[in-house]
Amino acid sequence: MKKYILGIETSCDETAAAVVADGREVISNVIYTQIPTHTLYGGVVPEIASREHVLKINQVIKKALSDAELDWSDITAIAVTYGPGLVGPLLIGVSTAKALAYAKGIPLVGVNHIEGHICANYLTEKKDPSSQVPQDDKLSPPYMCLVASGGHSHIVRVDDYDKFTIIGRTHDDAAGEAFDKVARAIGLGYPGGPKVDKLAREGNPQAIDFPRASVGDSPYDFSFSGIKSAVLNYLNGAEMKGLEVNKADVAASFQQAVIDVLVDHTIKAAQDHNMKTVALAGGVAANSLLRKTMKERAEKNGQIFNCPELIYCTDNGAMIASAGYFEYESGRRADLYLNAVPNLKIGER
Ligand code: KG4
Ligand code: ZN
Repeated sequence: MKKYILGIETSCDETAAAVVADGREVISNVIYTQIPTHTLYGGVVPEIASREHVLKINQVIKKALSDAELDWSDITAIAVTYGPGLVGPLLIGVSTAKALAYAKGIPLVGVNHIEGHICANYLTEKKDPSSQVPQDDKLSPPYMCLVASGGHSHIVRVDDYDKFTIIGRTHDDAAGEAFDKVARAIGLGYPGGPKVDKLAREGNPQAIDFPRASVGDSPYDFSFSGIKSAVLNYLNGAEMKGLEVNKADVAASFQQAVIDVLVDHTIKAAQDHNMKTVALAGGVAANSLLRKTMKERAEKNGQIFNCPELIYCTDNGAMIASAGYFEYESGRRADLYLNAVPNLKIGER
């Protein structure tokens, strides 16, 4: 019999719930995005995010169940993101999940948001012929995964469905954060990643030689604050000289520099750790150049490439339901003392 997990995600600016069968098959996926609200302020305002989650969460969960055409009695477990993320928003999801688990008598599992992003790689739905995802091959650990989002940039060795080892990390900004800051500097607004991605298609990636930084002793670590400063200096320098800036060239050159580093380090980590498969996760995994470049480089090396469908790259409840399924199968349960852990680390239990 299939195990249906209800996944709930409220760690940042998406109120999301989904039902996934056996960790892979998406039955329903409901996302209420608060982006239009936060756009007014140029970024996420935590207090406003919390209030929006309170307003929407019950409707989003109700719709996830009705879209799935399931009742509470069909749900095997409720999985909820309890960290990392913004404490107020996390608490809305955690307290709602606990209340539902208690009221309906359904087991509860806590999920790490970053591990959820990684598990998005297991999700499949109806076959899409234009998909880049090899939908007939079921991805299974071990593999090397780059997780790049607005708050995190890690290279993670996925040893098992619920076992993760960090191989590389950023020393300062996350990749998505750099995209967002550069987008703001060239006047593209929030969230910047998709807008830089689009504008970069019209620009020359070789126009400006932005730095590709390596840091410390680790060949797998990242630093993105240097490139962000280099872009800001370039823009200020041009302004002082009264020169007009080609924004598309800036976007394309910045994007190329970030993607070069992300791909080089991930491919090297996979090779050094004898991983046959390379995967992508997190909001930045939606970037078209990153998807294309990582696929080409991995396949050139004889490695298999996997990435989630676009809709599962940015925050969603289905990835939380998938990670929750593997937690459930490993026997771990959360109790009604489950609390939000804003700085929860990958692999922490
Ligand atoms: O995973 P996510 O939805 O939220 C976090 O957990 O942070 O990631 C959001 C981040 C933002 O920084 C956004 O600008 C970036 O992912 N992003 C992109 C693209 N789509 C989203 N960055 C580059 N290219 C994209 N197409
Ligand atoms: Zn995320």
